[in-house]
Amino acid sequence: MASDRWVFTAVLFLAAAAATVCYAADPQAHFDWNVSYITVAPLGVSQKVIAVADRFPGPVMNVTTNWVATVNVHNNLDEPLLFTWNGIQLRRDSWDDGVLGTNCPIPPGKNWTYSFQVKDQIGSFFYFPSLLLQRAAGGYGGIIVNNRAVIPVPFAKPHGDVHLFIGDWYTKNHTALRKMLDEGKDLGVPDGVLMNGKGPYRYNATLVPRGIEHETINVEPGRTYRFRVHNVGASTSLNFRIQNHDLLLVEAEGTYTVQQIYSNLDIHVGQSYSFLVTMDQNASTDFYIVASARFTNGSLWDRVIGVAILHYSNSRGKASGPLPDAPNDFYYKGYSMNQARSIRTNLTTGAARPNPQGSYKYRTINVTNVYVLKNTALQAIDGKLRATINGISYLPPTTPLRLADEYKKTGVYTLDFPSVPGDEPPRMRSSVINGTYKGFIEMIFQNNGTRIQTYHMDGYAFYVVGMGYGDWTNNSRGSYNMWDAVSRSSTQVYPGAWTAVLVSLDNVGVWNIRAQNLDTWYLGQEVYMRIINPEPNNRTELPMPDNVLYCGVLKDFVNLNLVLTLNLAALISTIVEMPLLLLF
Ligand SMILES: *[C@@H]1O[C@H](CO)[C@@H](O)[C@H](O)[C@H]1NC(C)=O
Ligand SMILES: *[C@@H]1O[C@H](CO)[C@@H](O)[C@H](O)[C@H]1NC(C)=O
Ligand SMILES: *[C@@H]1O[C@H](CO)[C@@H](O)[C@H](O)[C@H]1NC(C)=O
Ligand SMILES: *[C@@H]1O[C@H](CO)[C@@H](O)[C@H](O)[C@H]1NC(C)=O
Ligand SMILES: *[C@@H]1O[C@H](CO)[C@@H](O)[C@H](O)[C@H]1NC(C)=O
Ligand SMILES: *[C@@H]1O[C@H](CO)[C@@H](O)[C@H](O)[C@H]1NC(C)=O
Ligand SMILES: *[C@@H]1O[C@H](CO)[C@@H](O)[C@H](O)[C@H]1NC(C)=O
Ligand SMILES: *[C@@H]1O[C@H](CO)[C@@H](O)[C@H](O)[C@H]1NC(C)=O
Ligand SMILES: *[C@@H]1O[C@H](CO)[C@@H](O)[C@H](O)[C@H]1NC(C)=O
Ligand SMILES: *[C@@H]1O[C@H](CO)[C@@H](O)[C@H](O)[C@H]1NC(C)=O
Ligand SMILES: *[C@@H]1O[C@H](CO)[C@@H](O)[C@H](O)[C@H]1NC(C)=O
Ligand SMILES: *[C@@H]1O[C@H](CO)[C@@H](O)[C@H](O)[C@H]1NC(C)=O
Repeated sequence: MASDRWVFTAVLFLAAAAATVCYAADPQAHFDWNVSYITVAPLGVSQKVIAVADRFPGPVMNVTTNWVATVNVHNNLDEPLLFTWNGIQLRRDSWDDGVLGTNCPIPPGKNWTYSFQVKDQIGSFFYFPSLLLQRAAGGYGGIIVNNRAVIPVPFAKPHGDVHLFIGDWYTKNHTALRKMLDEGKDLGVPDGVLMNGKGPYRYNATLVPRGIEHETINVEPGRTYRFRVHNVGASTSLNFRIQNHDLLLVEAEGTYTVQQIYSNLDIHVGQSYSFLVTMDQNASTDFYIVASARFTNGSLWDRVIGVAILHYSNSRGKASGPLPDAPNDFYYKGYSMNQARSIRTNLTTGAARPNPQGSYKYRTINVTNVYVLKNTALQAIDGKLRATINGISYLPPTTPLRLADEYKKTGVYTLDFPSVPGDEPPRMRSSVINGTYKGFIEMIFQNNGTRIQTYHMDGYAFYVVGMGYGDWTNNSRGSYNMWDAVSRSSTQVYPGAWTAVLVSLDNVGVWNIRAQNLDTWYLGQEVYMRIINPEPNNRTELPMPDNVLYCGVLKDFVNLNLVLTLNLAALISTIVEMPLLLLF
């Protein structure tokens, strides 16, 4: 038995070596990240947050279309760790997606190197730790994918680039928050909103205590800046606005939009936008930058506001007085949805490729499969409150789905995820959607709960063609935007409403579809879609990386490739340990 396994692993090693990926002449960008806790007090309460390379938020990955990024992640936390690259499509490469369905977690004290190509994409995205609610403790940072030099950008080069990470924040740490969810409790009202890891400017002495550090964005009068804004929070939709300044929306998660002016925009959990902001005001004082909790009422939420400062170099004083007003639409629930519908693709501009992206006429393609994915409010399953999609609360197997496939391990998951909601009682399952390679699918997210959800799909961008209140029916298709819907990786779904998306299943792999809201995601509101080429080959999917980690039913596998790349001392100690390992 033991010797069989020796032979098997050796064969694997040879196969892996033969399949070593070569990206030819594409430029490489290497990142080496030490991931550890640091102690800060963004809201005046000392707490441990997850820092990447000693920074919170982490460093920006600044790459260009088609570059190959390698990211060596050193896990100095006391928990397993994986990073996912939100919005990066990882073409042919779910191996590097950094979610439990594709990767074994990096154990504490260990490091592991991601290697992926940012293929045919541009735009503003972010990375974050995908396990155990860790994003509620930080660990996030920006990803910029620049255009190749030969590709035009539909606006003049801005004078500067500003990154804003906005998100609700709890002074309880992520392990305490996890415990609350495990006990069936709600996370409750957040303690505040952070902007770039910092608390609010003291715009109101009652609401904001003394001694809190706030973010200041320094600008030159008359110049135009690109603001890349990401909602990295746990579960609160935020309204974003800059006092006295217009927001010219130019990009939504990798698509250049029709350039339109907004005085404020709702940014839901996990979403990213770029705005151009021109410093065209008389800077008699500084200005407020605000991100306030949305769709809430009651004074408990008064503190759930992030406030940063926009400071002109010729500013003559501090910002003071009331914050710019939030939309007053408590009695008009269509406001936010209409705003979302107004975000459309600029059909006359290209993105990562020279041809205009609108030339991909999604309206002319026949839909091959329809999925209605419905979530409800939390439901009790075996005495625990869980979140579901179509009655199924996803139970992540200990073996990544993609790895189980590679080693033909059956029984890890089932391919029977229902394509429409049924009558069965809610249940926990490792149930996966059987996607059809090269299919063109319609997914309708129906939110039958009471809180707004953002749905996200890894590996893809989808066309957000429609949204409406009530239950989706076949007739709802009449309201779809079949002309210039925006193609992006996330969409909000309002409570009591639906959102429809179209996706071309051209990227082979096993891909996560999840609620970006940390609480419902943690409680099972996710599913995977498995898309395999019936004639597998390494043009449609890259071979398994040679540094792959093993876990679950494959935990006894030894990655000889890794062993052989270690230094001699490590090699000797591993050889000494290995026979012991193989005995068990
Ligand atoms: C892809 O497969 C072909 C043959 O099946 C092999 O010759 C080639 O080296 C492989 N390429 C990569 C990058 O693995
Ligand atoms: C990484 O962080 C840990 C904990 O802060 C520290 O002990 C270690 O020296 C750091 N390593 C590097 C390479 O910076
Ligand atoms: C989180 O908070 C709990 C107390 O609620 C504490 O026991 C634990 O050590 C904290 N963990 C981290 C990583 O800060
Ligand atoms: C990103 O890199 C490009 C060049 O590749 C550079 O022009 C740009 O200023 C950089 N942006 C940031 C925010 O570092
Ligand atoms: C761990 O980091 C070292 C360098 O610090 C690197 O040589 C090695 O390849 C990394 N291991 C993995 C599995 O990525
Ligand atoms: C669309 O893109 C074109 C070409 O880049 C640009 O000239 C035009 O201003 C854009 N139109 C709108 C409405 O954003
Ligand atoms: C500060 O906030 C409190 C509580 O919302 C409010 O009552 C008070 O009027 C505010 N103060 C100022 C100066 O706006
Ligand atoms: C700018 O504001 C100052 C102070 O309010 C005022 O005196 C000045 O006239 C203003 N200038 C312009 C161009 O509006
Ligand atoms: C907040 O909204 C809820 C539900 O819409 C309502 O029941 C409650 O009375 C409202 N509270 C306040 C303070 O307006
Ligand atoms: C789409 O389906 C219609 C009929 O259902 C058919 O006539 C048409 O050729 C199909 N179009 C494509 C591009 O397959
Ligand atoms: C999954 O779908 C493919 C066609 O796309 C089909 O051949 C296969 O039988 C399906 N598998 C299961 C388990 O339903
Ligand atoms: C949820 O679904 C039920 C039955 O389908 C319906 O009566 C109810 O109005 C829905 N609630 C929401 C918030 O969508």
